[in-house]
Amino acid sequence: MFGSSTFAALAVSAIFASFATARPHQFHSRHARPSQGSPTIGGFAHPSGTGVPYPVSSSHISSNATANTNSSTTSKVRGVNLGGWLILEEWMYDDDSIFSGTDATDQWTFDSTPGAEAALHNHWDTYINETDFAWMAKAGFTHVRIPIGYWAYNNSNTPYITGADAILEKAIGWARQYGMWVMIDCHGSPGSQNGQMHSGHSGSVDWQTPDNLGLSIDVLNTIGSKYGAMKYADVVMGIEIVNEPSTNDGNDPEVTMTFAKNAYDTIKYVAANPDLYVITHDAWLGASKWSSLAQTLNSHTPSPRFALDLHLYQNQDTASKALDIHGHIAAACAWSQTEFLPPGSDLPIFVGEFAGTIDICANPNNSTDGGLSCTEESCQCTNIPMHSYVDSANTVATSLRDDLRRFWEAQVQTFEHSSMGWFVWSLKGPGLWSAENLVQFILQGDHLGTTKFPGICAQAGSPWE
Ligand SMILES: *[C@@H]1O[C@H](CO)[C@@H](O)[C@H](O)[C@H]1NC(C)=O
Ligand SMILES: *[C@@H]1O[C@H](CO)[C@@H](O)[C@H](O)[C@H]1NC(C)=O
Ligand SMILES: *[C@@H]1O[C@H](CO)[C@@H](O)[C@H](O)[C@H]1NC(C)=O
Ligand SMILES: *[C@@H]1O[C@H](CO)[C@@H](O)[C@H](O)[C@H]1NC(C)=O
Ligand SMILES: *[C@@H]1O[C@H](CO)[C@@H](O)[C@H](O)[C@H]1NC(C)=O
Ligand SMILES: *[C@@H]1O[C@H](CO)[C@@H](O)[C@H](O)[C@H]1NC(C)=O
Repeated sequence: MFGSSTFAALAVSAIFASFATARPHQFHSRHARPSQGSPTIGGFAHPSGTGVPYPVSSSHISSNATANTNSSTTSKVRGVNLGGWLILEEWMYDDDSIFSGTDATDQWTFDSTPGAEAALHNHWDTYINETDFAWMAKAGFTHVRIPIGYWAYNNSNTPYITGADAILEKAIGWARQYGMWVMIDCHGSPGSQNGQMHSGHSGSVDWQTPDNLGLSIDVLNTIGSKYGAMKYADVVMGIEIVNEPSTNDGNDPEVTMTFAKNAYDTIKYVAANPDLYVITHDAWLGASKWSSLAQTLNSHTPSPRFALDLHLYQNQDTASKALDIHGHIAAACAWSQTEFLPPGSDLPIFVGEFAGTIDICANPNNSTDGGLSCTEESCQCTNIPMHSYVDSANTVATSLRDDLRRFWEAQVQTFEHSSMGWFVWSLKGPGLWSAENLVQFILQGDHLGTTKFPGICAQAGSPWE
């Protein structure tokens, strides 16, 4: 849906000197969401509190996770995706990446190249390690969402290389050690559920054949049997059954919903942990479309454990990309009315993906403008030499940094108000796609629980605060 040339995510990264020289990445549309038009604001009072609070008990915090004391003080998920790790996504890496010197464009083609197995093991061992878990916990992240491909559990009839399940296992150990929770995300389904590279295989959408749906369920059975066991109940909070299945391109939404029901039944049957969430991406259908199935699945249990994953981006569709900072903030705040369900709904919702990066840029007088892809050096709206007003990450135009922080806070305040919480995409990546860069350059090291702009949505005209 979005051509690679229109992808401007790197954009804001260019504010940082360290990124200014990076060659344009080969962007693929990461998240093809239909444009939604302008949100409307106002008139809808949204009392706080939707769904059940996520149980975070301090007893869960392991003894050497001392830095993570704040995770016991929020009942909301403050999470980060570990994207680009167990499923390769070329656009997320530096020039000198695992893909250089190959013609590969996705996991499928990469795994077919000579030497792929050794390179993959090296990537798994170095891209994210224990030090990252220590950093995440200290920064205030309470959860990680870990994308993994089905092929880690069954690669029959494909070039896919197995072995990622052992890395997932290691990651779960680190999460436990640092007092964090894990959502296991089956991000690549047999046949590809969306034909995009982040499913493992770009091209056609062949997920909904009987064989592929059957294999999907088989693999979820394996994952559910293993990670639904009580010995993981202190660390694995849920299993996501499918990521971003397309709606109108090879998939039938009715089949997607039937699959969700079957996957839920399968996992709940094999999982001993009664608190395990079974989560599905909404297939871009919107939360209300899932209410009826949720009512069916959640009515038998004391706390609802069938849950939805929404992905909310403002850097993908043309209308969002054109917004200025006020428009971005207003749209984020309006999500509380447009995307989530009323309080008391028995469908818990997680925001499994969103981003801190948008197309705004700084003028020489430090005002910011929207709608530019911001490819100029240092993210300027006009083509003046970068060093004339921004010379390093630390002196990024204050106006731009503050605007990006307002946008960040508008998003997370909205999510924490209206849902179970959030997972930013992603721990590492170009520019402000990277949670590491967001924390360092935009939050300037502040803990994720810190609010610099309280009431940002009230100021934007949203009545819910
Ligand atoms: C945390 O504790 C585990 C087990 O006691 C130990 O192996 C690990 O090195 C510790 N990590 C840190 C960062 O102290
Ligand atoms: C993790 O990787 C970083 C470099 O990317 C390195 O500095 C650090 O020592 C590694 N941590 C462990 C525990 O190996
Ligand atoms: C893997 O999937 C194939 C195709 O569905 C199936 O025939 C095979 O039995 C599966 N292997 C395992 C170990 O489950
Ligand atoms: C700042 O510069 C922009 C772009 O040149 C201009 O549109 C805006 O009016 C200026 N703002 C002020 C306060 O001068
Ligand atoms: C713009 O911001 C930079 C960095 O914060 C500052 O040094 C500079 O004086 C500002 N320029 C104007 C015109 O306010
Ligand atoms: C916990 O969060 C507060 C702000 O909400 C912050 O001031 C404090 O430093 C944080 N504590 C730790 C250990 O990160």
